[in-house]
Amino acid sequence: MTTEQARKTAEALTYSTGFGNEHSSEAVPGALPDGRNSPQRAPLGLYAEQLSGSAFTEPRSHNRRSWLYRIRPSAAHPPFTRIDNGSLAGAPFAETVPDPNRLRWNPLPEPAPGTDWLAGLWTLGGNGDATQRTGMAVHLYHANASMERVFGDADGELLIVPERGGLLLRTELGLLAARPGEVALIPRGVRFRVELLDETARGYVCENYGTPFQLPDLGPIGANGLANARDFRAPVAAYEDVEGPVEVVNKYCGNLWSATYGHSPLDVVAWHGNHTPYVYDLRRFNVIGTISYDHPDPSIFTVLTAPSDTPGLAGVDFVVFAPRWLVGEDTFRPPYFHRNVMSEYMGLIEGAYDAKAEGFVPGGGSLHNMMSAHGPDRETFDRASAAELKPQKIDDGLAFMFETRWPVIMTPQAAGADHLQKGYDDVWQGLERHFRP
Ligand SMILES: [Fe+2]
Repeated sequence: MTTEQARKTAEALTYSTGFGNEHSSEAVPGALPDGRNSPQRAPLGLYAEQLSGSAFTEPRSHNRRSWLYRIRPSAAHPPFTRIDNGSLAGAPFAETVPDPNRLRWNPLPEPAPGTDWLAGLWTLGGNGDATQRTGMAVHLYHANASMERVFGDADGELLIVPERGGLLLRTELGLLAARPGEVALIPRGVRFRVELLDETARGYVCENYGTPFQLPDLGPIGANGLANARDFRAPVAAYEDVEGPVEVVNKYCGNLWSATYGHSPLDVVAWHGNHTPYVYDLRRFNVIGTISYDHPDPSIFTVLTAPSDTPGLAGVDFVVFAPRWLVGEDTFRPPYFHRNVMSEYMGLIEGAYDAKAEGFVPGGGSLHNMMSAHGPDRETFDRASAAELKPQKIDDGLAFMFETRWPVIMTPQAAGADHLQKGYDDVWQGLERHFRP
């Protein structure tokens, strides 16, 4: 499919809304069984198959599964064989010594011609262990070709954050479009193909090995606010009825495996359930902040959280720094200096970020690992300390953070990358002594 055709397809898409809902959808009338998940004979000669994203017995609030009605069951496939992982790496991340330094990267270099989204994935680092279903990985991607093959990640769910160029995601459960400013969530195990809506595509991926992302509890905020469930869009059923060789790549315990199917595995004609992809427009985020003084911790900007066994301690949080008003009285308004037990990878989707004057650019990223000291650079500190405190709209940027309970251990390619900035520490040089006892 050409970029132009993909764009037309993306513009015509319809969705089913609501995060965590029991969605149901059929591409052909009558394809969805009425009342039974696994009838003796599924309608229209389809096969019934359950895709479980949680253990059968997890609490209802965490239970994720979808029933798929498909032309062939997923079981009908030949053996997978190992293929080269390319620039994709997986947990455990044990090849480099964990680095306490503040680190910052420029955007990924241009990919070679014909690089599809999967080949364009480049792992910066991560933590945990895919075989233990703990931890996360930070990947970036830079692609200039649509995928012909189909990909599925058994290791975790994928939160895709486009920074440049839109993506058409053809998933087992239907089609989604994600453009810069939107994010897409592909659940563990769901197969998909990425087609480009523009000549190139660049962005970020959080691979979450742990408990799936969910909306954070709102506590005293009340019933509404932050990311609202109704703004999440799930696909409606759409299937490919394609016979002939299709390469299917499976990421399994950190490695890529490939098999050539005799048909497209994107052959789900109807489905229902809550283990489903989503797309979410970050501009819909309801930003909450102070209307008196100080500012809340950045956890107030959490879009999605992947909880761990310890309440409040996330395997990974996805946090967005969206346009917002700053009105705090007698308050240092940019993000404060801090050291954090959590580890922070930050990326920039567009514009600028209010804690850094320069060097943090769209498509680049910074890593402030466990207990590393960071905060505004000198220029930002000086300006914010002297600024006249009137209501101020921050509306020239869209930054985000993957914040994880474990240090992000770099891959050797990230530690040795040409686009790793030298001298990032210098942004905190020249912070003058002002102490006058
Ligand atoms: Fe921070």
